[in-house]
Amino acid sequence: MLQSLIPSVAQLARNAGAMLKDGFGGRVTARDKDGAHNLVTEYDIRVEAYLLEELSKLVPNSAFLGEETGRHTGQAEVTWIVDPLDGTVNFAHGIPMFCVSIGAVVDGELALGVIYQPMLDELFTGWKGAGAYLNGSPIRVSTTDRLSESILVTGFPYNVRDNPDCCIDQFARVLHQGLPIRRLGSAALDLAYTAAGRFDGFWEVRLHPWDMAAGVVLVREAHGMVSQYENQPFELGHNSIVATNGLIHTQLIELLAQ
Ligand code: IPD
Ligand code: CA
Ligand code: CA
Repeated sequence: MLQSLIPSVAQLARNAGAMLKDGFGGRVTARDKDGAHNLVTEYDIRVEAYLLEELSKLVPNSAFLGEETGRHTGQAEVTWIVDPLDGTVNFAHGIPMFCVSIGAVVDGELALGVIYQPMLDELFTGWKGAGAYLNGSPIRVSTTDRLSESILVTGFPYNVRDNPDCCIDQFARVLHQGLPIRRLGSAALDLAYTAAGRFDGFWEVRLHPWDMAAGVVLVREAHGMVSQYENQPFELGHNSIVATNGLIHTQLIELLAQ
């Protein structure tokens, strides 16, 4: 039943993306949420309010977890997990790499993912058991089976200064392999691009459910693999993630764990 909602959710993501695109490059008021360059703009707030209202109309009584407004309870077996603007720092600095991310947990399972990158008009959609798509065409993870031939992507938490041990050692180890590594500034796009085979793998710590929910569905549905750092099964409540094409998963996990 909920699979039939994909077109409507996709349309909401497109509308939300259009709001962001309208605001992009103009005067954006950015406020620091916690003194660690973790910015919020009026667009984060406005787009989340829009999605909260529209997704609640789409599935009455659904629950909602959003970055800016937190948790809203509901009786229906659907919880939307929304990052209205993933890549806020990029957006606020005129860097056109950001997206809207809408995931859904249905009957306790992460089941739906929609990510929209408005500047490139790229819409990623996925539903448990039904595959992952980019603008309607099926996508699949890459076929690279050696870490030494991989291109990877990662990100860094806002509070590295307070927690210098959280990611620098791992980053240095991967960097020392001499691999190309990118840092896009949007975890949701990192996952969507991994699903689309543009990256062979992604790792990051200290993420939140709204950064990962939709993208995890996409990677799984594109036949990739998602876990925590020590290869335990991925759960939204945990904050480390390794997402790959599956073929390099163990190699990347072993390198991160050394
Ligand atoms: C951030 C981005 C970034 C990641 C940060 C996230 P935001 O989300 O996903 O890539 O490295 O950890 O907080 O603040 O732009 O929604
Ligand atoms: Ca985010
Ligand atoms: Ca955000």
